[in-house]
Amino acid sequence: MYRSIAQSLSPEPVIRLRGVNKTYAAGSATCVALADVDLEVFAGEFVAITGKSGSGKSTVLNLLGGLDRPTAGEVWVDGQAVQTLSEQALARLRGRSVGIVFQFFQLMPTLSAVENVMLPMDLAGRWPASERRQRALALLDRLGVQAQADKLPSAMSGGQQQRVAVARALANAPALLLADEPTGNLDSYNASSLLDLLGELVAEGQTLVMVTHDPSVLRRVDRTIALEDGRVASRQEVCHV
Ligand SMILES: Nc1ncnc2c1ncn2[C@@H]1O[C@H](COP(=O)(O)OP(=O)(O)OP(=O)(O)O)[C@@H](O)[C@H]1O
Ligand SMILES: [Mg+2]
Repeated sequence: MYRSIAQSLSPEPVIRLRGVNKTYAAGSATCVALADVDLEVFAGEFVAITGKSGSGKSTVLNLLGGLDRPTAGEVWVDGQAVQTLSEQALARLRGRSVGIVFQFFQLMPTLSAVENVMLPMDLAGRWPASERRQRALALLDRLGVQAQADKLPSAMSGGQQQRVAVARALANAPALLLADEPTGNLDSYNASSLLDLLGELVAEGQTLVMVTHDPSVLRRVDRTIALEDGRVASRQEVCHV
């Protein structure tokens, strides 16, 4: 376990969901994606979200990342109430407080690796323009892919693209790193080395919430939140043997 009692590090959760419902209109019917979900994630925690296909994992991640709003209930991210924010303020929160890693990398195909990492910095404006390339190169170096800096995504392996995607997610030093099955399209070697890197980031204090089915991830996390049909089924501490 990277953090024994993460809650004691900070009394204010990075994320808080209270009574969250999310429904989608599905023709004349209503699809309940999340029903009455309460959860908290504290600074420095490594939390896994598990559950069968359709149980609501990506829906939770989208709410945590400010990509979507709840139908009912409250979502607090990095001290801000998502449901009260304007579109502009929500975009700002996304840009500055949250970094997201996707299963299919989702790098911009026409930008080089270093340009992909600079893009969120250009949008958020947290760092002066003159420092962004250097910071992007340092992040690529941290993720072990500095040699790929000037390549387009199409010229990189899947493992390299996902490392660049993690560097991009870290570009604005987000309070919260989210990952939706980030190892789902990697071979076992690349999956395991990416998990080692993510584990190192957590050890350095990064808060990480990851949707995963991978048993080797579940051995590494502080806590697993299992979803069943849009509800939190169990919240257990993982035993590390
Ligand atoms: N945009 C949408 N419109 C309508 N229904 C949706 C939408 N997004 C998700 N749903 C429904 O909400 C439920 C939860 O979907 P979600 O994508 O969160 O599942 P998931 O646990 O991430 O599944 P998977 O493991 O397959 O990625 C599903 O029944 C899905 O069909
Ligand atoms: Mg999903």
